[in-house]
Amino acid sequence: MADSNSNSIVAEGYRQAAISVQKLDNETFIQTNVCPKDGDIILDLGCGTGELSSYLAELVGPGGKVIGVDPDNERIQLAKETHKQVKNLSFLEGSSLTFPRIGLEPCDIIFSNYALHFMKKKQQVFNNLFTCLKPGGKIAFQCISQLPPFERNAYVLLNPENADRILGMYHCEGKTKIEQYCLSAGFEITRSVQTECVELVFEYVEELLKWHWSTTHGVFDPSLVTEERLQKYLAPYTDENGKPCLDFRGMKHEMPVCQLLAIKKASERA
Ligand SMILES: C[S@@+](CC[C@H](N)C(=O)[O-])C[C@H]1O[C@@H](n2cnc3c(N)ncnc32)[C@H](O)[C@@H]1O
Repeated sequence: MADSNSNSIVAEGYRQAAISVQKLDNETFIQTNVCPKDGDIILDLGCGTGELSSYLAELVGPGGKVIGVDPDNERIQLAKETHKQVKNLSFLEGSSLTFPRIGLEPCDIIFSNYALHFMKKKQQVFNNLFTCLKPGGKIAFQCISQLPPFERNAYVLLNPENADRILGMYHCEGKTKIEQYCLSAGFEITRSVQTECVELVFEYVEELLKWHWSTTHGVFDPSLVTEERLQKYLAPYTDENGKPCLDFRGMKHEMPVCQLLAIKKASERA
């Protein structure tokens, strides 16, 4: 991957991965559980390249507003460029710990999709969320509660040089712990379930490697993946004819996902 360490190329790689692998499942979560209304103000925390922020903006209509926040400046720049036609959508560089200070008006919904497991200091995050919501407002999250073995093994076996750095990005916690943070912040939980990860299917090895590269902000380096490393990594996923199977749907039970919805009760004024 000679030139491809440029951060904007990594961001574009992530945008494509987010569309091809995750978008459909996540839109279903939004329709079924998040249920935005006309005129809502929504913060999308950890918005990445903003594909779902744009979908939310469509759902809240011209009277509503969506603000996507992410610490990855390149993803934010790409989100601004890609969705510049969407009038009720804006993007800001920021994070779970800085967003209360970025001058947002109080939100009806704070949405966060597959980003909470990257956030440290979760109690502080939930306390921040509480202060940013209108009374009666809600939070709606999906996050992984443990790193699936097929991902962990990819980092450790295919990129041992970068594994510690990549694993250090994750701060996964289980459903019970997340519920505790949420309750301690003052929320009332309306839905908390453990479900399974989105369906990850790749057609080629290159596509899988590109996915790891782009989702780790370019830290996973496909050029370090030798044939020998690849064979070792793919051994458990190879069929009886020796053909690697890049359909990880069979491993769904190894990818627990928390879906959490909670409200700030109307009587609880910040
Ligand atoms: C797996 S991506 C999900 C992006 C988007 N929500 C989606 O569903 O396509 C996780 C995002 O969380 C962001 N992130 C990491 N740490 C964060 C933090 N402390 N606060 C907010 N976002 C964070 C990353 O930069 C990344 O874009």
